[in-house]
Amino acid sequence: MTTTPSDDDFLGPVDLPIRPRRNRRTAAIRGLVRETRLSPESFIMPVFVVDGENQRIPISAMPGCHRFSVDELLVEARLAQSLGVNALALFPALSESQKDKRASESTNPDGLCQRAIREIKSSLPGMIVVTDVAMDPYSSDGHDGLVEDGQILNDETLEILACMAVSQAEAGADIVAPSDMMDGRIGYIRDALDLEGFTDVGILAYSAKYASAFYGPFREALDSAPKAGDKKTYQMDPANATEAIREVLLDVEEGADMVMVKPGLPYLDIIRRVKDAVEVPVAAYHVSGEFAMIKAAAERGWLDGEAAMFEAHIALKRAGADIILTYNAIDMAKILQS
Ligand code: PBG
Repeated sequence: MTTTPSDDDFLGPVDLPIRPRRNRRTAAIRGLVRETRLSPESFIMPVFVVDGENQRIPISAMPGCHRFSVDELLVEARLAQSLGVNALALFPALSESQKDKRASESTNPDGLCQRAIREIKSSLPGMIVVTDVAMDPYSSDGHDGLVEDGQILNDETLEILACMAVSQAEAGADIVAPSDMMDGRIGYIRDALDLEGFTDVGILAYSAKYASAFYGPFREALDSAPKAGDKKTYQMDPANATEAIREVLLDVEEGADMVMVKPGLPYLDIIRRVKDAVEVPVAAYHVSGEFAMIKAAAERGWLDGEAAMFEAHIALKRAGADIILTYNAIDMAKILQS
């Protein structure tokens, strides 16, 4: 029978010239050889906006996140900026009565999104405002495209998206971010922006956006879940990787200034492949469900929430994300500052 060896059984150092542990010996050495670093400058903070004043409405499936009225959003944005976070992605939460089949409210010059853009740009001109181009927050069908007889129409949707993007640019958006996954929308939106003189407004394309269960909490936050069916005829099949490269290359060809992979953590392989395939910056969206999983486990004491959050962000960056869309932008920036 073997027993666990005692100290007396140790025969002396083994002949082992190569020892990777040398580079991990102290915190300073680990810092010296660290390959990936995070910076708040590379975060985009997604925020939910509602009508009204003094509103900070908690989102139950996203602990710590709120729907802000525009005045409160400014407070939050100022805090983010003071910590080095220079970009916001705006998501308006509309009441059901403001929604219709054609997402008409999306081009209202005095609509919630447009007002939020104007307020942020006038109070915090240095803050980069990224806007979501998709019908779902405005659509009575809860889909990203126009619905007819249960079908999501592609080409009919393009004009609606282009008008929405132009309206957001008119309000002062720096970057428009089509998240709808209709074919040809990047080129169509680029043409529309240029025609209206918005040649400097950038496009961040949600290029490889998967039909994912990880968007659940977001749909609660915006009350934007599809009323019928699912999004599988336009968002990508989670089983596919090569198709992501096709989508990304198409978007770059059509004029995307940046491309995105979404969700983030379950798709690190896609982020890496995309990073190797394109010469534009790559963004990863650490989506609501990823955020919620870590929060929920931390609340139960099942893992160290802060450490898990940090690791998630490092992993996205290491995989190849130049930009990270994250609901943890403020918390991450605080850690990075300390
Ligand atoms: C829809 C949109 C979604 C998200 C961003 N834009 C949800 C969806 O496609 O149904 C999800 C973001 C998140 O889960 O954090 N245009």
